[in-house]
Amino acid sequence: MRLRNIPGAEEEVAESPYTITDPQKSRGSWNRVFNNDNPIFIEIGMGKGRFIIEHALTYPDINFIGIEKYPSVQIRAVQKLREMEDIPNLRLLSLNAEILPEIFSEKEISRIFLNFSDPWPKDRHSKRRLTSSEFLGRYRQILKPGGLIEFKTDNGKLFEFSLEEIGEAGWVLDAKTENLHRDPVMNEGNIMTEYESKFIKLDKPIYKMIFHYE
Ligand SMILES: C[S@@+](CC[C@H](N)C(=O)[O-])C[C@H]1O[C@@H](n2cnc3c(N)ncnc32)[C@H](O)[C@@H]1O
Repeated sequence: MRLRNIPGAEEEVAESPYTITDPQKSRGSWNRVFNNDNPIFIEIGMGKGRFIIEHALTYPDINFIGIEKYPSVQIRAVQKLREMEDIPNLRLLSLNAEILPEIFSEKEISRIFLNFSDPWPKDRHSKRRLTSSEFLGRYRQILKPGGLIEFKTDNGKLFEFSLEEIGEAGWVLDAKTENLHRDPVMNEGNIMTEYESKFIKLDKPIYKMIFHYE
């Protein structure tokens, strides 16, 4: 993704009341951050935050954590949130998901959302794909048994790669579609991301899969 550097973005994201700046300290005790025992759902690569903010508003009994490695993108979510009423079940983390097991303990997470993850088309970069076996291993460390991963993409090659990776690593595929917006069952309650709404305007099909590890 081409990225415009925004001076001061890192500081502005860090100063947001939603951002947890020392997340390692909450490993194993995220329920204390939210002050309840509700399940925790995370989105990795939240971008400008439309999806995670709308989820948090729609499902107040679930705790949501949005993760993004680039403050220059995440700052858009921080700015939007400043204009809104307080959302107590939402937090943001500004970090690379490679360190997820340092942030969450075993079984601490109930669901993971991956939306329009960067495809990293070159083979030598395949480990950076958020559905690579390396990342799947990290997810296994933090997800509750049976906890779902929901993955949406516009990229057919990344979708195929992901199906292969989950199969080889022993994950169970619960559902998939190659045209989410024409699939009334899988599209029910769908909340769109910024990228998704752009692709829909261009009439591009959206792929989605849901999978878990027992
Ligand atoms: C193509 S954008 C999609 C943004 C948003 N999910 C959407 O659908 O509109 C992918 C986002 O994932 C973020 N990302 C990619 N790899 C990441 C990683 N390892 N850790 C955290 N964020 C990551 C990128 O910085 C980028 O903002």
